[in-house]
Amino acid sequence: MNQILAIDVGGTGIKGGIVDLSTGTLVSDRIKYLTPSPALPISVAETINKVIADLDWKDDIGMGFPSIISDNICLSANNIDKSWIGTDIKNLISEHCNLNAHILNDADAAGFAEVKYGSGKDVNGKVMTITLGTGIGSGLFINGTLVPNIEIGNLRFRDSIAEHYASNAARKREDMSWETYGGILNEFLVYVHRIFSADLYIISGGISKKFEKFSGFLDSALNVKQALLKNNAGIVGAASYASQQLK
Ligand code: BGC
Repeated sequence: MNQILAIDVGGTGIKGGIVDLSTGTLVSDRIKYLTPSPALPISVAETINKVIADLDWKDDIGMGFPSIISDNICLSANNIDKSWIGTDIKNLISEHCNLNAHILNDADAAGFAEVKYGSGKDVNGKVMTITLGTGIGSGLFINGTLVPNIEIGNLRFRDSIAEHYASNAARKREDMSWETYGGILNEFLVYVHRIFSADLYIISGGISKKFEKFSGFLDSALNVKQALLKNNAGIVGAASYASQQLK
C-alpha cells in the first residue's frame, strides 16, 4: 500500500492526513481539530472518527498518541485524561472507527519520520528525536531500529520533571525570552546526553520551525539538528509505522 491515513494526537490538537509512503509527504488536506477537553477516551475516539470521515478513508490507519504504549495498552497520561491509563487503545480506536488502527507513542512516531525521510536518514548509531510541544517526547533509534517508550520528558529536572521547564508549553506559559529558553533547553540536553550519548538529536514539534531562535544557545559539542518534517513528523511517522505492521 503506497498511501495511508495517519493521525497525530497531541495534548492540544488532533491532526491527520493521507501520507504518500514513497515520499513521506501529505497528499491530502491536513485536518486539525482541538483535542477535546477533558480528553476522555470516547471523546478522542469521536474526534479521530471525524478526521477519518473528512478524508473518506476506510482502510487501516496509523496513529501516534502521547502515552507509553505497551502491547497496545496506555500506561501513562501526562497531558491527556488519566482515564486513558489501562485502556487498550488499539481496540478502542479500531472498534469505534470500524477499521484496523496501528498505534505507537507520538514521539516514537515523529522519530520514525525523521529517520526514514528527514534529518536522521542514513545516520548510523543513536539518533534521538526530541519533540517539544505540550510535553516533551522522545524517539530513540539505534541504527534505524526503534527503542520504544523512552520518556525523557519525565526525567527529574530541577524541582520537578523536565517537561515542566523545557517544553514549548513551559516557554509560552512563562513568557520566556529565546535566550532564557535556549539556556534551559541546553541544560536539559546536556543532561540527556550524559545518559544517552546519542550521535544526533533532532528537535521536532511546532517549535522546530523557530530552530534558529534558540539553536545558538545550545552546546556546540552536541550534534543537534532541526527536524526536516517540522509539524508533520508525527503524522508521517505513524503512517510509516503502520505500513511496517502491514508487511
Ligand atoms: C508524554 C509522552 C509524549 C510527550 C509528547 C509526554 O507528556 O509522557 O509519552 O510522547 O508528552 O507528546
